[in-house]
Amino acid sequence: MATILVTGGAGFIGSHCVDVLLKRADKVVCVDNFNDFYNPRIKRENVKSHTLQTTNYKLIEADIADLTAMEKVFAEHKFDRVLHLAARAGVQPSLKDPLEYVRSNVVGTTVLFELCKKYGVKNFVFASSSSVYGGNKNVPFCETDSVDNPYSPYAATKKACEVIASNYHHTTGMHIAALRFFTVYGPRNRPDMAVYKFADDILSSREIKVYGAGDEIKRDWTFVDDIVKGIIAALDNVGKFGFEVFNLGNSNPVSLMYFVSLLEKELGKKAFIKRTPLPVGDIPVTFADVSKAKKLLNWQPTTSIEQGIKKFVEWFQQRAL
Ligand SMILES: NC(=O)c1ccc[n+]([C@@H]2O[C@H](COP(=O)([O-])OP(=O)(O)OC[C@H]3O[C@@H](n4cnc5c(N)ncnc54)[C@H](O)[C@@H]3O)[C@@H](O)[C@H]2O)c1
Repeated sequence: MATILVTGGAGFIGSHCVDVLLKRADKVVCVDNFNDFYNPRIKRENVKSHTLQTTNYKLIEADIADLTAMEKVFAEHKFDRVLHLAARAGVQPSLKDPLEYVRSNVVGTTVLFELCKKYGVKNFVFASSSSVYGGNKNVPFCETDSVDNPYSPYAATKKACEVIASNYHHTTGMHIAALRFFTVYGPRNRPDMAVYKFADDILSSREIKVYGAGDEIKRDWTFVDDIVKGIIAALDNVGKFGFEVFNLGNSNPVSLMYFVSLLEKELGKKAFIKRTPLPVGDIPVTFADVSKAKKLLNWQPTTSIEQGIKKFVEWFQQRAL
């Protein structure tokens, strides 16, 4: 049993991780600022079952970029590990508000590293993103490929976090794993993401915008349960590493049109499709090489896109909000 700080534990991926950690009797301190990037009521709903657990779970509403507030959290708890998932996510919104992305993602992550150094917390796992690959032409994307040309401020902040992490490992000996998630989807999905917006628009008979003219835009959609298994494997093994970067993706990219056809099938309704060019900031294809995660974390995805969309739609149709 370990005591784990989970930042962003009220969010889509974070709340699923907390489910698993509490189930196996780890102690969780969740820090989240419940910001209004999307409706905070959804985040309250995500943590509802966790807050019923008074012995192994504590919820702290704080901003990770607030050094004073976070110092209090570290002074009051002795953490064995940090699972850092709090961030401003989303590519397009980052072009409109890059300063908030730098504040939450880069300053926030550095605050956590600094406090880990001060309070002797040695094991740190955090969320990076496939977006760091920018226009990488080598497919599938490998952790050793260059990530020097991010296409969006969001991607740039994630790359910055990886570089800062590497530096903290070098100067403190901290064990750190940076996990590059590839387009995650599933129950509790963020409402700003394509899968949710598509499903909502299809059901409401609204037009959906699909990037590209043909099948050239592809995403390596990865089911949330697979991502959570990878995160937990990283948390359990991070002590064996120095600083490592891992791709966590389905390793089976599908075109946007195929993705929409699966949604249509499961929702039982046709989409009104408008084709539009790929906007600046987005990348044309994502495709994860996951051999490193397989080798070092004994992890590989097991949910096909067809199974995952079925599960997503089941949740979508009975969601509370
Ligand atoms: N969902 C994906 O497809 C995807 C892909 C790649 C990487 N990621 C990364 O995974 C992590 C989790 O993403 P998600 O999809 O669950 O997003 P999410 O927005 O649902 O979860 C993030 C949580 O962090 C909290 N948060 C944000 N800024 C904060 C701050 N400054 N202080 C405290 N709390 C803060 C939010 O309130 C939210 O609850 C993020 O780091 C994201 O960048 C997600």
